[in-house]
Amino acid sequence: MKQYYHLLTYGCQMNVADSETIAGILEEKGYSYTDELTTADLIFVITCAVRDNAEQKIYGKLGELVKLKESKPHMILGIGGCMTQQDEIAKRIYQRFPGMNIVFGTDNLHKLSQDLDIIIEESKRIMDVHEITGNIYDDLPKTHTERHRAFVNINFGCNNFCTYCIVPHVRGQERSRSIKSIKNEVARLAANGYKEVTLLGQNVNSFGSDSDNDTNFVKLLKNLIEIEEIKRIRFMTSHPKDMSLELIQLVRDEEKMCKHIHLPLQSGSSKILNKMNRKYDQDKYLNLARYIRKEIPQATITTDIIVGFPGETEADFLETLRVVDEIKFDAAYTFAYSKRPGTRAACYENQVSEDEKKSRLYKLIDRVNMYMEISNKSRLGQKISVMVDGTSKKDNEVLSGRSDDNKLVHFRGDYKVGDIIELEVYDYSPHVLWGK
Ligand code: 5AD
Ligand code: SF4
Repeated sequence: MKQYYHLLTYGCQMNVADSETIAGILEEKGYSYTDELTTADLIFVITCAVRDNAEQKIYGKLGELVKLKESKPHMILGIGGCMTQQDEIAKRIYQRFPGMNIVFGTDNLHKLSQDLDIIIEESKRIMDVHEITGNIYDDLPKTHTERHRAFVNINFGCNNFCTYCIVPHVRGQERSRSIKSIKNEVARLAANGYKEVTLLGQNVNSFGSDSDNDTNFVKLLKNLIEIEEIKRIRFMTSHPKDMSLELIQLVRDEEKMCKHIHLPLQSGSSKILNKMNRKYDQDKYLNLARYIRKEIPQATITTDIIVGFPGETEADFLETLRVVDEIKFDAAYTFAYSKRPGTRAACYENQVSEDEKKSRLYKLIDRVNMYMEISNKSRLGQKISVMVDGTSKKDNEVLSGRSDDNKLVHFRGDYKVGDIIELEVYDYSPHVLWGK
């Protein structure tokens, strides 16, 4: 009888990429994908630990899944990702949810297939969370969710230890794949009809800094640009401290490099940036963003911003708004600071009250939305290059795609997924452009 799997993926693109590997492993074992929880014989949850509210949501979901399993006892439940990479949480979940067959980490996907055999053949429960070894397993199968664009991991982990961030504690030291192995993977994707790749890492632009060879991110990009069938290259996330002028110039000069740079600001206050251990100050960030605006005027700049970091005063928050007002980000992900056990900032004094964080967050969102709308409005009447992704989620008469500068575009017409077309923008809302 056919067996079905479903994956619940939370958090960032790294988790989406891990889920694609898990899907590849499961399909190799004969499972088929189902998009309904109730028809699944196996459900894995890939978790995010970056903020407390993500964790709470996941605990709620686990309760639901265990209930579902009561009516379907043969169902296999598993949980992996950044939450379970923390020992105490992994143990707590294992004990609190006896219906959970396997608890695994982020660094042992290569053992998942074998673990599943043990669960099925020996009816055992498994707790298999590894310490991060630094090994890279880049020959695991992958099932991409789409057939025209794919995520490709280029480096794993992070060495930066921003004081609010759990990532270095759960994903370990930064380690880069080799250019050769990445190029082979992208060439294989190209041979299978893929036209766009998004290169992923917690810190893509420090690619190669952990290697003895004279390798770096720009070199990797130049290698990938050579692959003819790949028409578009994106990357995320970049750290401002590792953003070289050479990289910005490459984005400017190479047609295949999408004109979009995601450059997390986190805070506009130099005092807070220092406490965050970001290794740049307001001036340095502004100069970088000004340089991008000057060299690539058609590029979008997007960002991540945290409000309410410990010790953030109203004056510090106004510095953040000042940077937003100058750079006029085309889009921004905004967050209220969330205390993460084990990180340095969790022990800092002067934690900001929840009410204050909320109030600053709402003000920031208002400001960011205003610039997002201005950015979309500025595209009215312009010609843009769009790759067709499929039908819009809300209306299947309408097609949806991404412009070169990563804006969501809706349009009508007789196009195939993966076509790259030129459209003229005739209408906009804060979140969508309409093209014809
Ligand atoms: N609290 C709030 N936001 C956080 N981020 C990371 N850690 C925290 C935290 N403890 C945000 C940062 C990062 C994004 C992925 O999540 O802005 O860039
Ligand atoms: Fe976290 Fe900073 Fe590393 Fe990004 S660069 S993953 S925010 S520690």
